[in-house]
Amino acid sequence: MNTKIVSILVLSLCSLLSLQTFAGDSAAGQSKAGACFGCHGSEGNSTNPLYPNLAGQQTAYLVNQLTAFRDNKRANPIMSGMAKSLSDTDIEDIAAYFSGKTTKSAGGDPALAKLGAAKANQCFGCHGGKAQGRGQFPKLAGQHPAYLAKQLSNFKAGERKNPGMQAISANLSDTDIAEITAFLGTL
Ligand code: HEC
Ligand code: HEC
Repeated sequence: MNTKIVSILVLSLCSLLSLQTFAGDSAAGQSKAGACFGCHGSEGNSTNPLYPNLAGQQTAYLVNQLTAFRDNKRANPIMSGMAKSLSDTDIEDIAAYFSGKTTKSAGGDPALAKLGAAKANQCFGCHGGKAQGRGQFPKLAGQHPAYLAKQLSNFKAGERKNPGMQAISANLSDTDIAEITAFLGTL
């Protein structure tokens, strides 16, 4: 895909996705999130590289993903099971809890990260200048490289659906993915 098409995509997505606000109750979220802590950490920083950090993640993005797992629009056997019985209020409360925590940067292979720095420029238009995320665009900074790489491969294979990300990941080689995700993990 050429840069012009990418910029059009970026602009149209940015204007489409309004910045919705949520009224989740973080204290209620903490007591509802007990079942999540074993995998994602009690403060939302996980120790397993395939379990994403949730700390500091965008509230709107967390709400979207939990709703998508619950409604079987994002396929993952573990998470569909975990989200199955959550109400919309539970989801907003849990999202408020994890988004309020501080991300512990997962880190990444320094040599690969150095090579990925320039390639990651194409991601900042949507994911924020420091990959900190914005509304429905997830924070990628400090996320586990192995988790990010798995998601990019899932988009590329069409197993995870999002028109923008499917188009962008189609242009990334396995080497690009390894380098960019190592860099993002170090932020
Ligand atoms: C048994 C381990 C396990 C438990 C327990 C668990 N998760 Fe997950 N979670 C995962 C895995 C693995 C993924 C990545 C799924 C994938 O690869 O698409 C994930 C993904 C997520 C995501 C998507 C994050 C992103 O960056 O897109 C959210 C949000 C999430 N989990 C929230 C929760 C919540 C809330 C709970 C508790 C109600 C919970 N999880 C319990 C393993 C777990
Ligand atoms: C046109 C806007 C746009 C651009 C440019 C973009 N992304 Fe995304 N990205 C998104 C959106 C929107 C989502 C959330 C998709 C969803 O809701 O499932 C996303 C999700 C992701 C995810 C999943 C994160 C998670 O926690 O599961 C990864 C990984 C990702 N993007 C990596 C990248 C990388 C790497 C680049 C640059 C090569 C990039 N993105 C460029 C819009 C964009």
